Amino acid sequence: MHTDQITVMAPIQQHSKSNKLLKDIFYEETSAEYHQALEKARTAVEDFLHHTRQPFTGIRPAAMREAVYSVDLSNPLTGYDELLAEVNELYIRHATAFHLPQYIAHLNCPVVIPALAADVIISAINSSQDTYDQSAGGTFMERRLIDWTAHEIGYTNADGVFTGGGSQSNLMGLLLARDHFAMQLLGHNIKLEGLPAQASRFRIFVSDKAHFSNDKNASLLGLGEQAIVRVKTDSRFRMDAPALKEALDWQLSLGNIPIAVVATAGTTDFGNIDPLQSIAAIAAEYQVWMHVDAAYGCGLLLSGKYRHLLNGIEHADSVTIDYHKSFFQPISSSAFLVKDKATLQLVRHHADYLNPAEQDYEELPAQINKSITQSTRRFDALKLWCTLRLMGKQKLGIYTDMIIDTAAGTAALLQQDPEFDLLSSSDLGVLVFRFRPVGLNTDLSALNLHIKQSLFFDGTYILASTKVEGNFYLKFTILNPVTTLAHIREILAAIKAKGYSLL
Ligand SMILES: Cc1ncc(COP(=O)(O)O)c(C=O)c1O
Repeated sequence: MHTDQITVMAPIQQHSKSNKLLKDIFYEETSAEYHQALEKARTAVEDFLHHTRQPFTGIRPAAMREAVYSVDLSNPLTGYDELLAEVNELYIRHATAFHLPQYIAHLNCPVVIPALAADVIISAINSSQDTYDQSAGGTFMERRLIDWTAHEIGYTNADGVFTGGGSQSNLMGLLLARDHFAMQLLGHNIKLEGLPAQASRFRIFVSDKAHFSNDKNASLLGLGEQAIVRVKTDSRFRMDAPALKEALDWQLSLGNIPIAVVATAGTTDFGNIDPLQSIAAIAAEYQVWMHVDAAYGCGLLLSGKYRHLLNGIEHADSVTIDYHKSFFQPISSSAFLVKDKATLQLVRHHADYLNPAEQDYEELPAQINKSITQSTRRFDALKLWCTLRLMGKQKLGIYTDMIIDTAAGTAALLQQDPEFDLLSSSDLGVLVFRFRPVGLNTDLSALNLHIKQSLFFDGTYILASTKVEGNFYLKFTILNPVTTLAHIREILAAIKAKGYSLL
């Protein structure tokens, strides 16, 4: 005993005399080092804000690759000045500037400052959300935010967990749909026994504009992409409810087994919301699990003006929420919620060293019991906590309303202009359109593709694109409350000018 103490203590005494070796470890003796590192990192970010005037430098992949691969990873740098100069050169300088209105491509929102402050705390304190002994306050703060979100959805007996993103939350939805169905209707426990013989006939109904994670998830769940039945959409690219009924009847007539329907609240390509009330009624009639993928449309929960667009979401058995899309949160910040908290028990596994079966989880909670793919998990919830506590729901809701109003104004501009084809209005902020010069007979798909690529490598504007019925279209995703119609006019003029220059 005595000898053990001596061998353990000796190295500590030695280190406290000279802490050079340990100067990079974050502990009580290195707060000056920490302060210096953060000051310099913050300055690098501020420089990015001050000096970035366009969303991209336009660097080509070959040059970017060359810059990154020419670094000798076996030769460490001498200090933070050198380090941040390198990080700036390789990364920050060429980073896509989501905060600029000239970035109008994918579902990347600008982020709010309280969440950035939270991120500093999250990284340094580095709690892991799996068990109470690794995150006491964090466990309950995450739970409060899940309860808060559940309340906003209209759930009364819900549960949920923060996840890494919408694809993962959607996976949880389909996993519970599959396992719940097998347990309730076939008396089969998939978690323990693997897939039942009937699994190859399980079917999941999604619209033909639903997110591709549904296909990937069906495959991950052992059902294969063949399990996905694509239901046709209406003129605004929303799931057509009568077509859902027809698809269910058709699959039943083939001897297949419908287990779930995924409604999308905010499609990736059109920002429209499937008819949630009608889908809920059909899901109840056919006794299938209803999952709502509100990864994008969840921002409507914040809105006083447009919250009604989500009516019906409260009937869903489970919901995906991406705070990192529509709550102005830094990546990652997402959640999966279930209407009936008992169903989340289906994913529970016990490990003696972490969450033993005999533990009373009412008394000593463990978020690991609710998570399927992450054991060690960041306390991402702190970002949302700080955001809500400092800004409040109402202010975030006003941002959401501003975005939707800008998108509506943009749709009007596109509709009024004979040189643009707009495919649909949007409940949220995604507009799919193409430049169509009047009186000129040209390949519009090729022209619009070149416009997009050329603007991207100019670095001036970043647009998205998609295909509809085989034709190439440009896409705006408006997620920035700073963006005004003046910015939109500027971008539309740039598209036209680029288009004419390429003809
Ligand atoms: C409707 C929808 N669901 C799910 C996802 C996937 O979310 P994540 O990228 O966070 O995994 C997306 C991403 O764009 C989406 O648009």
